[in-house]
Amino acid sequence: MPQHTFTVNGEQVTVDVADDVRLLWVLRDVLKITGPKYGCGINVCKACTSHLNGKAFNPCAVRVADLTPDDEVTTIEGLADTVEGDLHPMQEAWLERDVAQCGYCQPGQIMAAVALVNRVRAEGRSITDADLDQIRNVCRCGTYNRIRQAIGDGASRM
Ligand code: FES
Repeated sequence: MPQHTFTVNGEQVTVDVADDVRLLWVLRDVLKITGPKYGCGINVCKACTSHLNGKAFNPCAVRVADLTPDDEVTTIEGLADTVEGDLHPMQEAWLERDVAQCGYCQPGQIMAAVALVNRVRAEGRSITDADLDQIRNVCRCGTYNRIRQAIGDGASRM
């Protein structure tokens, strides 16, 4: 089997899996990093949203062979390590707003939120309703209003 090397949550890993295995299965089944959830497996529901080199992406849609040793993957497990403190400010906002219902979609929601705020900041502006409308992560429990409120709170602390 071919070997693939990349970084996950600050640690370099090398995995021995076929080229066309998608990263979500490598994370969950090989590396036992289960924060990114399996929802649809076809890049639609966004439950697995994580960060690749700081930008939101969906590991269900990326072949492990497409990663390079310079690539840095961050999952919800590694998010807090990107800041000072025990939790990322977006996670704190999520807790204070009591956003989660069943919780299944929430790691992906938080990762999407952080990437969105960082992208908007890099453009030198604040987050707008139109930006929030672009988030495509599905929540079958319908927590969308609390998600939007928490993103506003989290953005103000980031
Ligand atoms: Fe249940 Fe979003 S909290 S799917």
